[in-house]
Amino acid sequence: MDVAAVSVRAYRAAVVGCGRIGAAFDDDPRRGYVSTHAGAYAATEGFDLVALCDVDPERLSRYGEKFAVPGRYTSYDDLLAKEELDAVSICTTVDTHAPITAKAVAAGVRAVFCEKPVAGTLAAADEMVTTCDNAGALLFVGHQRRFDRFHREVAAYIAGGGLGAVQQATAYYTAGLANTGTHLVDLLRQLVGEPEWVVGTMSRAPSGNPADPNVDGWIGFRGGAVAALQATDVKAYTIFEVNVLGTTGRLRVGDHGFSATYEAAVESRRFAGYNQLEPAAVPVDDSGRREYMLQAMAHVRDCLDGAASPWSSGADGRQALEILVALRWSADHGGQRVDLPLPASLRDAPYLQGSK
Ligand SMILES: NC(=O)c1ccc[n+]([C@@H]2O[C@H](COP(=O)([O-])OP(=O)(O)OC[C@H]3O[C@@H](n4cnc5c(N)ncnc54)[C@H](O)[C@@H]3O)[C@@H](O)[C@H]2O)c1
Repeated sequence: MDVAAVSVRAYRAAVVGCGRIGAAFDDDPRRGYVSTHAGAYAATEGFDLVALCDVDPERLSRYGEKFAVPGRYTSYDDLLAKEELDAVSICTTVDTHAPITAKAVAAGVRAVFCEKPVAGTLAAADEMVTTCDNAGALLFVGHQRRFDRFHREVAAYIAGGGLGAVQQATAYYTAGLANTGTHLVDLLRQLVGEPEWVVGTMSRAPSGNPADPNVDGWIGFRGGAVAALQATDVKAYTIFEVNVLGTTGRLRVGDHGFSATYEAAVESRRFAGYNQLEPAAVPVDDSGRREYMLQAMAHVRDCLDGAASPWSSGADGRQALEILVALRWSADHGGQRVDLPLPASLRDAPYLQGSK
């Protein structure tokens, strides 16, 4: 076959919700990299961004113009009825994620890229996973560090024993357990492994959203490592950081994933018979930009091509949600320890509804 004669059709994509992560973060001149679903589809070879949807006509028109998108809809029912779509990003508030997913899949969409947290309840998350699985549709969840080369390499380094045995982790976040904490618990799953239990307490640090308070806590992992999760006041400064302490070194991923430091365990110069941690070169290539959204869209395209499987799947999003629900339940019940998996009675626990 003449390869040059084969026409490669671009995947037709749409974004539902043209707020911050859907389209508006790209207005921020300080970001300096593509930060939205609309921007990433528009910039990724293999995709045509053919439609946008938002209940707010002003936003729709502003980002329709900005990204030169021909299809503009104020209702996702109209969008799904009128456009033939391969991929849909769901960038609306959490309570809408499950119903939009169900309708998108019923309309024949093959890849749903849903923002985090995947849903407001475990029951809704389970429904999304089952709906997509039954239809053979791909489900991605917007814990974007899973798409990033650097974070993936850090996870592989730790899993390969680069830090020896993981002993403990500490992790900091701001801006709400469901909103930002979800990225942190997902990253802890990526770097440390599967949790077995949690303990949560309400944080005194304001999250900026009363419906989604900050929660401090402990997460116990298979193998014995324990992570301390701590929230700080979102108005003071934003922080997103994980320290992983192994038996042979400590790796800190800080500044929202944009910086890293490493210390190796070496013989102590101060105390005979002990080792100490000494600054050393980060053992993973931490250069380059963290083009989270561009890497995500390239990966979605590769999955549609059949060349990859989702790195941040619906099941991953559901597991992160289970940890959040457990932490919030514990915080609301005097810091009781909660073993995972959660009992079926908490599948409908509404703790994360009303959060973003
Ligand atoms: N991955 C990340 O780093 C990241 C960052 C920000 C937000 N998020 C997630 O993205 C989602 C949206 O958050 P945001 O901060 O962009 O919110 P936002 O309020 O800025 O934007 C949401 C948009 O959705 C529109 N909308 C609401 N309901 C709709 C509906 N039924 N049909 C069509 N449009 C509708 C709103 O008009 C608004 O423009 C949330 O789940 C949030 O947690 C993820």
